[in-house]
Amino acid sequence: MSGRADAPMTTDRAIRERADALLAAMTDEEKAGQLTQYFYFGFMRDVPEGEGDDLHQPNQPGIVEAALSRGEVGSLLFVRDPAETNRLQRLALEGNRHGLPLLFGFDVIHGLRTILPVPIAMAASWDPAAVERAQAVAAREARAVGIHWTFAPMVDVARDPRWGRIVEGAGEDPYLGAAIAAAQVRGFQGEGIGAPEHVVAGPKHFAAYGAALGGRDYDEANPSDYELWNTYFPPFKAALDAGAGNVMTAYMPLNGVPATGNPWLLDEVLREEWGFGGWVVSDANAVRNLSTHGFARDLSDAGVRALQAGCDMEMAITDPAYAHLPAAVGDGRIDAATLDAAVRRVLEAKLRLGIVDEPLVDEERAREVLSDPAHREEARRAAESSAVLLRNEGALLPLDIGAAQTIAVIGPLADSKRDTLGPWCFDFDLDETVTVLEGVRAKVGERATVGYAPGIRPAQRTFPSMFDMFPGNAPEDPPHFDDEAELRRAAELARAADVAVVVVGEWQNMIGEAASRSSLELPGRQLELLQAVAATGTPVVLLVMNGRPLDLRWATEWVPAILDIWYPGTQGGAAVANLLFGGAVPGGKLPFTWPRSVGQVPMTYGHVTSHEPEKQDRRYWDEASTPLFPFGYGLSYASFAYDRLTLDRDRITAGESIRVSVEVTNTGRRTADEVIQLYVRQRHGRTARPVRELKGFERVTIDPGQTRTVQFSLGPDERRYWHPLEREWVIDAATFDVWVGGDVTATLGATFDVEGASTA
Ligand code: NOJ
Repeated sequence: MSGRADAPMTTDRAIRERADALLAAMTDEEKAGQLTQYFYFGFMRDVPEGEGDDLHQPNQPGIVEAALSRGEVGSLLFVRDPAETNRLQRLALEGNRHGLPLLFGFDVIHGLRTILPVPIAMAASWDPAAVERAQAVAAREARAVGIHWTFAPMVDVARDPRWGRIVEGAGEDPYLGAAIAAAQVRGFQGEGIGAPEHVVAGPKHFAAYGAALGGRDYDEANPSDYELWNTYFPPFKAALDAGAGNVMTAYMPLNGVPATGNPWLLDEVLREEWGFGGWVVSDANAVRNLSTHGFARDLSDAGVRALQAGCDMEMAITDPAYAHLPAAVGDGRIDAATLDAAVRRVLEAKLRLGIVDEPLVDEERAREVLSDPAHREEARRAAESSAVLLRNEGALLPLDIGAAQTIAVIGPLADSKRDTLGPWCFDFDLDETVTVLEGVRAKVGERATVGYAPGIRPAQRTFPSMFDMFPGNAPEDPPHFDDEAELRRAAELARAADVAVVVVGEWQNMIGEAASRSSLELPGRQLELLQAVAATGTPVVLLVMNGRPLDLRWATEWVPAILDIWYPGTQGGAAVANLLFGGAVPGGKLPFTWPRSVGQVPMTYGHVTSHEPEKQDRRYWDEASTPLFPFGYGLSYASFAYDRLTLDRDRITAGESIRVSVEVTNTGRRTADEVIQLYVRQRHGRTARPVRELKGFERVTIDPGQTRTVQFSLGPDERRYWHPLEREWVIDAATFDVWVGGDVTATLGATFDVEGASTA
């Protein structure tokens, strides 16, 4: 992270000295200001007095601008127009005696203007290099408009798909999650904080937010320490090892103690044990919520306890708890050194980023960057590599354009630009967003006839989403929509076609933050629509637009081809058309276990063997205990044979590594990607170990008839685990099984022994 010798202002020492000088000159009010981040919601200027709520506050921007003029704001979020970032930056500079600029943060989750596939989709690519490239595009666009820091990656392991935020992460597995987390950090930050065209990455939400009880967003999380260390922490640790400069806290109480006021979490684990030197930001209003949670006595106590726990910056809408910090220093509830340490971390971030010396952006250049066609290309490639082929009976896919004279595209999601983009995007350009219908039409051109019928109206949530307030976010209920006539028309269109492409899923406001569900069924009348189309006898290709597993039991029995396209982003329709017609070959794999029904959740492949393991498949008397699709699953237009699994040794000591190699042959007729996955099982140990654990993977491209040899190293890191009684990492002397294959059910295996147990 340190700069070159000829750039003294960016060396660690120069940064420290500059921060020292600033700290010495600042009042406690100015310091508290640096620790305060406000939303800036321009549109709230019009909320009438007395009509606001938590999110909509009268004259919110006016309140922020007044604080800016007093020099008491360190950071803003939600500003993304370069002219606006410049205007607000100038206000900040005029108001701050020390010339300290604002840090602009934003949720650049899967792209700014060019929208990439949602994060769960990118994880489904199992391709860290591709994920890194995609997030570098997001970073480039964000930095061009003046955003310095993204509230991403979201690295919360999610094992309960009722939780809406599963779409923002990498799924159920800590090993895959760690690899994807690190890749995202590299993409966002580039060479490190201050790298041109990059932004600071802030992994979130520390920690175990995904363990919300019942999958209900914001509900308490009570994971055991064993789960925390072995499941929920590893992606955070990987993101920090990759250099992430910021961490965001979680909303909920973690085993009783709110994460935002939890000194064990923020201080002992994050700073002491992991050596994190960046700054910690609270989630939005999470500091003030310490008092509404029944933890802090009042707003002032909330500020004191959050800062003392290790939360450096407060994200607030108005009325920050950190405005009370100067008084707390005055009456001795906070010591000056604690305040200074937090401010120093924020100042150092600003200095490293280079924005103290260059606070403004070039608006003309921002326009060029945002319209760079290379970004659209990257988004298309990312969408292609994310898709997961779930079923392909009789090799219905890829479709032969010449043979399919008439194609019926069906379902309201098939032509919904906003839903194609998915949740968590705000700066999109709908004009350049390609829907499935548009992608198919563009692809076939004159060669086939493409008809379209929505069939049903968009399904609605039972109550609105908090994101519906942003333009175009709420699904529109079309006027004059004759439900029965439209359903019949869709079936007729399908009957007359050679193939029906039906798009089903969840509308984008049905998933994401505050979008948990008690069911996994297809919302609205989508199943009925699908059944009506399938009943015509026309072959059906089902495209699933989703961010979590949905109940596809009927479809997996009756629909020959199912392709999970997730929310594929700006170029989604173009990517899907390439996949449908063979211009691209699906190679994604599921980053979660796909349950049959909601009653099975939470469900994860990495469970332990318990009583009567031979009845593992009969844990429910009314439903199989097996998933609909296993973790790591995904088909291809090619097929692959695995052979010659060899280990370089069959006996090692605890500190040694073993090399595993395998040969994979493409036995199909197309060049295609396969994600080669390695799983281990430790047969006995100081805890009961999971039946399988992912410990290696590689996505490779293989030509027809070609054999690729892939190697993995299984070292101490892959075998250690955190022991709940010893309360430390251990490596056991044990016998290990290894399997390599295309999903978690891989059968090609070998065995090795580790001698000499150790702590690690
Ligand atoms: C609340 C969300 O939990 C968090 O992920 C997000 O970054 C902030 N709001 C800011 O939008």
